[in-house]
Amino acid sequence: MSALTLSTSSATAQRADVVVIGVAKGAKGPVVALGGESVDKAYGGKLAATLDALGAAGSEGETTKLPAPDGGLKAPVVLAVGLGEAPGKAESYDLETLRRAAGTAARALSGTKKAAFALPVEDAAAVAAVTEGALLGSYSFTTYRSDSDAKGGKRSAKDKGASAPLAEIVLVGAKPRDKAHKAAAERAEVLAAEVARARDLINTPSNDLTPIAFADHVREAAKQHSLNIEVMDEAALAKGGYGGILGVGQGSDNPPRLVRIGHTHPKAKKTIALVGKGITYDSGGISLKPAGHNETMKCDMSGAAAVFAAVVSAARLGLRVNVTGWLALAENMPSGSATRPGDVLSMYSGKTVEVLNTDAEGRLVLADALTRACEESPDAIVDVATLTGAMVLALGNRTFGVLSNDDAFRTTVHELAEEAGEASWPMPMPTHLRKGMESPVADIANIGERPGGGLVAGLFLKEFVDEDVVWAHLDIAGPAFNEAGPFGYTPKGGTGSGVRTLVRLAERTAAGDIG
Ligand code: BES
Ligand code: MN
Ligand code: ZN
Repeated sequence: MSALTLSTSSATAQRADVVVIGVAKGAKGPVVALGGESVDKAYGGKLAATLDALGAAGSEGETTKLPAPDGGLKAPVVLAVGLGEAPGKAESYDLETLRRAAGTAARALSGTKKAAFALPVEDAAAVAAVTEGALLGSYSFTTYRSDSDAKGGKRSAKDKGASAPLAEIVLVGAKPRDKAHKAAAERAEVLAAEVARARDLINTPSNDLTPIAFADHVREAAKQHSLNIEVMDEAALAKGGYGGILGVGQGSDNPPRLVRIGHTHPKAKKTIALVGKGITYDSGGISLKPAGHNETMKCDMSGAAAVFAAVVSAARLGLRVNVTGWLALAENMPSGSATRPGDVLSMYSGKTVEVLNTDAEGRLVLADALTRACEESPDAIVDVATLTGAMVLALGNRTFGVLSNDDAFRTTVHELAEEAGEASWPMPMPTHLRKGMESPVADIANIGERPGGGLVAGLFLKEFVDEDVVWAHLDIAGPAFNEAGPFGYTPKGGTGSGVRTLVRLAERTAAGDIG
């Protein structure tokens, strides 16, 4: 990850390759945002006019590079990043705007060694937002490039800069001796590193990230961050009666795992459980997905990646709350040993499920993990899953759905996500949809009516959650994997959706606001 320093020196005094300033949309053209004053002065107060002449409007997502004025700056180049509409007199930029602008700038600076960010940072929250955006935006995944530095491969000097992320970030206006500023930057560094951990796992192809490989990776991290860990292999799962996880995993040569990782704090008053869908590849099973629907299905473990990253974050931040993560890991493949449509599984809860569609596998592994998590009577339980295409149709590619057995908790989770900078929307669980899952042979079928498919999936999960436990389900099928071009601090590929919301939940629970 990029190295980070805080600096109170002026933007013009920064010894960097580029100085980043903000430019907003004013009533009469672009205006230089707070933080860029000294740079504007170095241009003789003509920076806004110059940007205007260059065609910059100050719109979000816009970047303009220009040479620094002769002798005016220590850095040779200035990058102006758009902030959108300028806020009113007494208002400041909202945090997500800052995060995105910093991310956009960081992406525009790949190949640059050192950049000083002189964006409007009026308080610690803004420091956190700019840090988070810049670090998240400078993410890149090059593990599988034969010319990547990580592999020690050779590449020409010309190529060299093209994909190398920004190495050094200086936060101008953030005070290294101000406790709040320092804490904000440090928290942002942990968050960005853990989101990157989730993204790396999601981007890793399924031939390398099998359930066993995922579990091994978690073991390593648990050692490093002193987390409790327990890995149940296929024998332990069989002994325990985890019919859902086994039923999904039995068609694959790569056997399933259920991983429990725990962060505990001696002064914790509350315990939250996080459950992640960890399908390392979803082919659909015997109900095989058609071509065109399977080439991004390595992303089907994004929920488990988010849960894993959130638990490690809680440990690294030393949060005064117990956080238990449950990763339900399996590969959904068709084969002679695979579950057939029509088969009945006997779940960990004791309920039976008729599997009418083997592509509705996420709910089967989650059901077992949810029942198991409830046995420990957590104060709240949240599962995260790339669960349904229906949720993508309902909410699009950037928003996850929040379903819950408790209206107040659903609202809370939606608000936490907003605070964290993640788009979400509360969704209902209409009870009439339960009827569609009635099975002539088993307690329930794993699919119901097609309309409202994301809500049907939620109702299915609800059957496996203890009624006394407050529970929310995040369907991240839309935002987990970005197939479109990068935007703001979001790269192409794995996004790490859910991580920041879960960390916020842990923080707010630690603070006594929840539960
Ligand atoms: N992993 C998919 C859902 C998904 C779709 C994730 C698109 C990311 C992007 C899930 O296992 C699935 O296949 N769901 C089915 C359920 C259906 C058979 C009831 C779906 O949504 O089509
Ligand atoms: Mn599926
Ligand atoms: Zn799936």
